[in-house]
Amino acid sequence: MKITDETRNNLIQSALEARQWAYAPYSHYKVGAALLTASGRVYDGVNVENAAYPNGICAERVAVFKAVSEGEREFSAIAVVTSNGGSPCGACRQVLSEFGQDTLVYLADEQGEIYRETTVAGLLPDAFGCEDLKEA
Ligand code: THU
Repeated sequence: MKITDETRNNLIQSALEARQWAYAPYSHYKVGAALLTASGRVYDGVNVENAAYPNGICAERVAVFKAVSEGEREFSAIAVVTSNGGSPCGACRQVLSEFGQDTLVYLADEQGEIYRETTVAGLLPDAFGCEDLKEA
């Protein structure tokens, strides 16, 4: 899907605005994400940490799970905003790959400046997928 500059900028803006709700009292690393579905909806997400550290979750997965739990499974793009344009973790790459290799990924900093533009496949080549579960 072709994404216009305006749509991309709006998606980054949504991630930037969502980031204010990040709950990151332990790492202080706030992350905001905004996921654009094929139907044109935007689902945002933030990282939500926990005193029992491993129970926290990343912003990207919150956005994906919000979307999927509302019936969305086709995604066009995700914008991720951090203080420094940080890249999605391995778990988030794997979760995104479940729903498509071609989803565009925009990584931006807190000024909304794009650090990198790539795809899910670009971030996670040779992802494990449903076809790997078939018996040999
Ligand atoms: N974090 C994300 O939200 N997304 C990522 O892809 C990388 C890491 C969060 C998890 C944790 O709350 C904080 O950033 C520091 O790791």
